[in-house]
Amino acid sequence: MTARIIDGKAAAAALRADVASEVAKFRVATGRVPGLAVVLVGEDPASAVYVRNKGKATREAGMLSFEHKLPAEISEGKLVDLIEELNTDPAVDGILVQLPLPGHIDPDQVLLAIDPDKDVDGFHPINVGRLATGLNGFVPCTPLGCLKLLRAELGDLSGKEAVVIGRSNIVGKPMAQLLLGDSCTVTIAHSRTRDLPEVVRRADIVVAAVGRPEMVKGDWLKPGAAVIDVGINRIAGEGGNSHLTGDVDFTSASAVAGAITPVPGGVGPMTIACLIRNTLVSAARRDS
Ligand code: GUN
Repeated sequence: MTARIIDGKAAAAALRADVASEVAKFRVATGRVPGLAVVLVGEDPASAVYVRNKGKATREAGMLSFEHKLPAEISEGKLVDLIEELNTDPAVDGILVQLPLPGHIDPDQVLLAIDPDKDVDGFHPINVGRLATGLNGFVPCTPLGCLKLLRAELGDLSGKEAVVIGRSNIVGKPMAQLLLGDSCTVTIAHSRTRDLPEVVRRADIVVAAVGRPEMVKGDWLKPGAAVIDVGINRIAGEGGNSHLTGDVDFTSASAVAGAITPVPGGVGPMTIACLIRNTLVSAARRDS
């Protein structure tokens, strides 16, 4: 079998176009434009690229982007002061603090300072609780993007066996909640799971989010399974070159799976598309 390639780039472009058209309607109806504030602390080059891409996508959707670049040495108190200003700024509908933060800042304290109703990343404990209990809140963008790709590929997910590999707060845990919400039978596997290949082999849906390059092999998969690869691992090559690879061994997996996301061009573009969608949803909720 050769898997269908799930085109996350195309799905993200369609979602972004949809958001842009909704933003235009929102502007006519309310006389205002949704705004997203993105906070970057320090000089981490990968984070700087993500923040730049988020700002660009926000502007391309017709929304306002407020970018706050702060020095790595800023105190936790000063960062919290900025967040409190953004919480009360009526032009700001969404607030995102790019992670990771420098070691002297406690990310939990920073995330707790964000108004849950502007928390478009869905990391505040109030939104974690809303997701777990089925209340309306904000859902983290990467797992939300994965869910949208799975629904588009498979239709109704009800009754399917899903295995999520990875238990992070950003991807693994919210992904499991979303799949449970769609009535899958969900297993969360992680670094201490015994006989991971055997656990993965029963899955109709595999979501790999462990951060280990090409760990999931084709012979771990049930034939026809849908495979979502959240990994973004940069592998150094010769002469200073490097390339990106996922958590799934694409060559062997695509010979067994029914459908699979590539890296790059799979989950990554959906994360940003979901972020701008969450920002529009926030503006609409705050306006109603
Ligand atoms: N760092 C890695 N992924 C994310 C994300 O989805 N949101 C934020 N704020 N930081 C991240």
